[in-house]
Amino acid sequence: MTYNTDFLYDRRTIRKYTQEAVADHLLYDLLKAGCRASTTGNMQVYSIIVTRDDNMKRELAPLHFNQKMVTEAPVLLTFCADFNRFSKWCLLNNADPGYDNFLSFMTAAIDALLVAQTVCIAAEASGLGICYLGTTTYTADKIIEVLKLPKGVVPVTTVTLGWPAGQPDQPDRLPAEAVIHKEVYSDYGDKDIERFYSAKEGREDSRQFIRENNKSTLAQVFTDVRYKKEDNVYFSKILLKVLKDQGFMNQ
Ligand SMILES: Cc1cc2nc3c(=O)[nH]c(=O)nc-3n(C[C@H](O)[C@H](O)[C@H](O)COP(=O)(O)O)c2cc1C
Repeated sequence: MTYNTDFLYDRRTIRKYTQEAVADHLLYDLLKAGCRASTTGNMQVYSIIVTRDDNMKRELAPLHFNQKMVTEAPVLLTFCADFNRFSKWCLLNNADPGYDNFLSFMTAAIDALLVAQTVCIAAEASGLGICYLGTTTYTADKIIEVLKLPKGVVPVTTVTLGWPAGQPDQPDRLPAEAVIHKEVYSDYGDKDIERFYSAKEGREDSRQFIRENNKSTLAQVFTDVRYKKEDNVYFSKILLKVLKDQGFMNQ
């Protein structure tokens, strides 16, 4: 058995797209292939909202903090944790759905992310470029309104999709030993942390990041600028309310 992981090693997020359309049949095929991803109990507790309409993109853009890809990409895919459809099927079949709880949200969110990533790999293998949008979980309450998501459905991530306009530099990764543990978790001493992060810290783009943000370490760019505690706490509250309103915190 031979296998080829080159395209996975070569991949990078694509944030700029050409004007070329993504044909319906190609998109449908990628989505269908994505639905072959593993899914809890073969329940398929997810839904995928396809956005192609410019007006819809414009409505969604501020909810993704006006990241340009939202209006520039030919296609936007919003992947949702969805126990609505499955619960309706249960009710129609004299079965009592017990999915109004946090565990069920996690189950459906995991399903949705697995399908998302499988669609992304299929898309990248076809030469398309993708970018995930983490803003989906920040503004899930408003995305629910725009996409008319009923109770039991929560958007968990969005992916922009299109033909790449150029190949940006490939970002770094930590060395594999930094993330792989043999048999049991081997916790990190200060020296390990320094060793694993030194290449990242030494990159010119990291140094530029530090300068631009007026910080003294790269870690501070993350803690003080990009992923701040106050933002995390603020958006957590919104997300917890969404889970309650969508019926996942009843037990
Ligand atoms: C859950 C998730 C959310 C992300 N959100 C954003 C985003 O909102 N905007 C963006 O430009 N990139 C986003 N990305 C892309 C990451 O920034 C990117 O994957 C990372 O910097 C590594 O780059 P690479 O994918 O090119 O290797 C996100 C990625 C993931 C997995």
